Amino acid sequence: MKAHSLQPAAAMDEIVSLPSDADSSGRDFGDDELQLLREVLESGTLNCTKGTQVKAFEHEFAARYRIAHTRAVTSGTAAVHCAVAAIDPEPGDEIITTSVTDMGGIAPILYQQAIPVFADVDPLSLNVTPQSVAERITARTRAIIATHLFGNPCDIAGIRKVAAARQIAVIEDCAQAYLATQHGDLVGTTGDIGCFSLQQGKHMTTGEGGIVITNDGRYGRWMTLFSDKAWGYGDANPDHYFLALNYRMTDLQGAVARAQLRKLEGVVSRRQQSAALLTAQLQGTPGLSLPIAASGATHVYWKYPLHVNPEVIRGGTDGLGAALKARGVFCAPRYIQKPAFQCRVFTERKTYGMSRCPYSCRERQDGKQFVYDVAEYPGTMRGLERVLVLPWNEFYTQQHVDFLARCVRDAIAAVNA
Ligand SMILES: Cc1ncc(COP(=O)(O)O)c(C=O)c1O
Repeated sequence: MKAHSLQPAAAMDEIVSLPSDADSSGRDFGDDELQLLREVLESGTLNCTKGTQVKAFEHEFAARYRIAHTRAVTSGTAAVHCAVAAIDPEPGDEIITTSVTDMGGIAPILYQQAIPVFADVDPLSLNVTPQSVAERITARTRAIIATHLFGNPCDIAGIRKVAAARQIAVIEDCAQAYLATQHGDLVGTTGDIGCFSLQQGKHMTTGEGGIVITNDGRYGRWMTLFSDKAWGYGDANPDHYFLALNYRMTDLQGAVARAQLRKLEGVVSRRQQSAALLTAQLQGTPGLSLPIAASGATHVYWKYPLHVNPEVIRGGTDGLGAALKARGVFCAPRYIQKPAFQCRVFTERKTYGMSRCPYSCRERQDGKQFVYDVAEYPGTMRGLERVLVLPWNEFYTQQHVDFLARCVRDAIAAVNA
């Protein structure tokens, strides 16, 4: 395991290179991964069907999350796809999701011929709320995908309550929220299904990969089948039971995933400690709102999002972002730039050939238009206009945090000069 410490170092004024999750400066691959990878290669079995590593990873993840069923897959997108497939919507059914997320959390809805209905978000956290999802429920709603953005849990207990009253399933997208908790429960375990990504930049990674978890035996069985062409392995009369894909993880990834899982606790706690240091340094800065977890929740800091008030900080998030970049801090003003529903796949309904399915499918001949009008998304528009996402990493030291805080203060002084 790589050495890490939050000890102070180095003098002020120099440009400090921040550890990055894109390379070895901010990733921890070492002897643990190598030893398990060697076992896989020496076994001569690289696939999970016959190998042991993915199975062991699924078992170990289940133990850590105290959950009955886990299925490792090829990406976070695949994890969400397995979850949506397990819900088994009818074509034209609706699934409520967030307007602020990675497209991998949304595209699977369309692939299962269901219609994404976007809920507005809280402008500070950029998370959906029980109220914003409740406003979008119709008789055709089959599920709600609740995304814990940046590692900050949304009010999953409240969303669950809203969903339970209508017997709607809740899928938690935890791609950015490993080990985050709400009221003591790990997010991903209180909804019906939890989805995780193991892509390069996540708290734990296999380069690409994902895992989907549930306590529901029926969903668990469906997810496993869906990730493997719906072939009934081990059944008396196996068949391809329904339309499904191959999302199997390789045993090479399974080996790395097992080693990464052992480090996850430390990764999360170091991110939380260094984030607390930055929060202490920036607290009270006029024009900045800092990330705070909702009461009873813990934030796991996939990123450190600032909320920038343009009435106090001239040029708002764009101005501050440019000034930070000039100081050597890679950051993302406006996060995804525009809400998901303004992307062409939705504005042009570019789905299957010229069909515009599922919006125009026979099952939706009720004439309902899914307009995705920005006027219905004040929280989304305000939140994206103001968010400035700072990169975060488990290898940040006091020196990195001091540097970031200094850059933020200097950048604000520069734009306001
Ligand atoms: C919230 C969220 N959901 C889903 C995904 C999709 O994961 P992947 O890139 O592993 O397919 C991501 C990826 O960044 C994500 O951040």
